[in-house]
Amino acid sequence: MNITTIILAAGKGTRMRSDLPKIMHKIADRSLLQHVYDMSKQLADNKVKIVYGHGGEMVRDSLKHLDANWIEQKQQLGTGHAVQQVTSQIADADTVLILYGDVPLLKLATVQALLQNVSDKSLGLLTVNLTNPKGYGRIVRNSSGQVQKIVEEKDASNDEKLIKEVNTGIMAVQGDKLKSWLSQLKNNNAQGEYYLTDIIEMAVNHQMEIITNQPSSEAEVMGVNNRMQLSHLERVFQQEQAHTLMEQGVTLRDPSRFDLRGSLESLGQDIEIDINVILEGKNKIGNNVIIGANTRIKNSVIGDHVEILDNCVIEYAVIGEGSRIGPFARLRPETVLGNNVHIGNFVEIKKSDVAEKSKINHLSYIGDTTVGNNVNIGAGTITCNYDGVNKSRTVIEDGAFIGSDTQLVAPVTIGKNATIGAGSTITKDSPENQLTLSRAKQVSISGWQRPVKQEK
Ligand code: UD1
Ligand code: CA
Repeated sequence: MNITTIILAAGKGTRMRSDLPKIMHKIADRSLLQHVYDMSKQLADNKVKIVYGHGGEMVRDSLKHLDANWIEQKQQLGTGHAVQQVTSQIADADTVLILYGDVPLLKLATVQALLQNVSDKSLGLLTVNLTNPKGYGRIVRNSSGQVQKIVEEKDASNDEKLIKEVNTGIMAVQGDKLKSWLSQLKNNNAQGEYYLTDIIEMAVNHQMEIITNQPSSEAEVMGVNNRMQLSHLERVFQQEQAHTLMEQGVTLRDPSRFDLRGSLESLGQDIEIDINVILEGKNKIGNNVIIGANTRIKNSVIGDHVEILDNCVIEYAVIGEGSRIGPFARLRPETVLGNNVHIGNFVEIKKSDVAEKSKINHLSYIGDTTVGNNVNIGAGTITCNYDGVNKSRTVIEDGAFIGSDTQLVAPVTIGKNATIGAGSTITKDSPENQLTLSRAKQVSISGWQRPVKQEK
């Protein structure tokens, strides 16, 4: 089956009260339109056409990576008018699937079932029963239950308004049929619009059967018109992802306080995730990993048996097996930690390699640095990697011991097994195996008297 998918995305979304076109608002860091596109791209032999209008250039520019044709609808004269813009690009033999760019959680399985209902004698229509159908087009059936037409709320009689079965807007129909009906649409209705829904009655008049399907849940067909609906669908989406992860062997202390905004490229077993963890972008997480509360991890690789304690921010980092991070640690881009490394509280690491079994446990900034294995970096150590103009590298070789409150002024190398005395400012390379320190000698003054308060 060759498919043409038309995604309607020209609407303004006034109720979002936003400078951003509605379909560019995001769920889990992906625009509403991208959600719809990604789902439709899983159909084989599918050409995607996006009808855009409001915020035109902005929408196209931000989503120009999509493999789709963009068709502008200059004036929004209705859903039928929107589909008419694509007419010249629809092949007669194609099955045309109509989707909405602001209905982001529609599932592939639902669409596949709908497509099965398309033939030259039938079309597929996705409907849903709502306890409160207000605002939606109603599905009008005859006494034997066959769909006769769709009537919009504003055009509906009082009896029709009682109908609970509504049009989701999502349908599938053969290309040649759709094109002939589109050319006959009129706008003599309450809203003066060209309604796509009018093709249903035309189809019935042409002895076509309207086969209806329902989605697996209401959320699948819910549109986003305001920010309450946006947040609701975000939570629905996150709950679904959380359940998938739990099925795959991840413990989530509270699935309602977990956010995955991206994908897990690989996922081990027996991962334990505490509350308020955000996983962003593309992450890989190994086996037996523990992630503490309030931690954000973006585009990183976490090895087996890693323990990340509470309140860490980790971005574009690689963490070797058995390492322990945090609490309150920040790993910035291009941080690569070997196995069994310890990074403690209030430590920031940027663009640095730290080899196995090294420890940076407290209050340090390590940037543009190569740290060997078995290095111990004391509290309050700072690599001075920036002179205000250029960045320079620090090298700390295997087994070195850096005393607390040390500044390492880059470029500088600390040799193998060197020891740096606490409180030093190191500006020159420090040789292997030796103690290097740069602090004023300590003196004690005997017989010194504290000042006394003067009488006035
Ligand atoms: C439409 C349906 C209604 C259905 C409801 C489901 C029609 C006439 N009515 O009503 O039966 O119950 O959706 O939500 O089809 N759009 C354009 N260009 C336009 C008009 C709309 O691209 O000129 C897009 C919108 O961006 C949106 C979708 O089409 O994604 C639906 O438009 P909307 O105005 O929300 O339709 P409703 O009046 O709610
Ligand atoms: Ca709508």
